[in-house]
Amino acid sequence: MIQLILFGPPGSGKGTQAKHLVDKYELVHISTGDLFRYEMGNDTLLGKEAKSYISKGELVPDSVTIGMLKNKVDKHPDAKGFIYDGFPRTIPQAEALDAMLKESGDTISCLLSLTVDDEEIVKRIKHRGLTSGRADDLDEEIIRNRINVYKENTLEVFQYYADQNKSVSIDGIGSIEEIASRLSHEVDKNI
Ligand code: C5P
Ligand code: MG
Repeated sequence: MIQLILFGPPGSGKGTQAKHLVDKYELVHISTGDLFRYEMGNDTLLGKEAKSYISKGELVPDSVTIGMLKNKVDKHPDAKGFIYDGFPRTIPQAEALDAMLKESGDTISCLLSLTVDDEEIVKRIKHRGLTSGRADDLDEEIIRNRINVYKENTLEVFQYYADQNKSVSIDGIGSIEEIASRLSHEVDKNI
């Protein structure tokens, strides 16, 4: 089964590119950020808990995020493959994902990391904030905290999968089509 991780800092284009990959390879797209926003929109208990972290640009605790991810995966028993967007964001999340896949005799195909520099990220997210309706896209301090959290807690997930020879870096600057074709090229090599 195709099991892709779309990796990279906030605002690196993961959501946009996931859409392309989903169509091309017939995958189920799982964005943990989108799942949290759905819960927040419905003001559920999970949404309320998530909001207390997301509003500051912090990470939701691993146990909460992993539980939510597994629930979502279980809803797609007939999927041809998955693309994980914004997950795993910590080493414990990566270990939980690997353990979950192992139970069904599966494994991550590859981790595709979109690289974009900090100032471009801030610019993109501020621009997205004009229409995204996301409070965490509007405040530069929160945006910069999200970038710091990425560097402190998330970046090491790249090395975790590099140790399994599965991590690939892709230049995240360019047109949507250009980047989509860079990604597809790597996916084709790794499936
Ligand atoms: O992935 P996305 O950028 O949409 O995530 C938005 C926010 O959701 C993150 O800044 C973080 O607060 C939270 N999140 C998380 N753990 C994840 C994914 C998202 O805490 N695995
Ligand atoms: Mg996203």
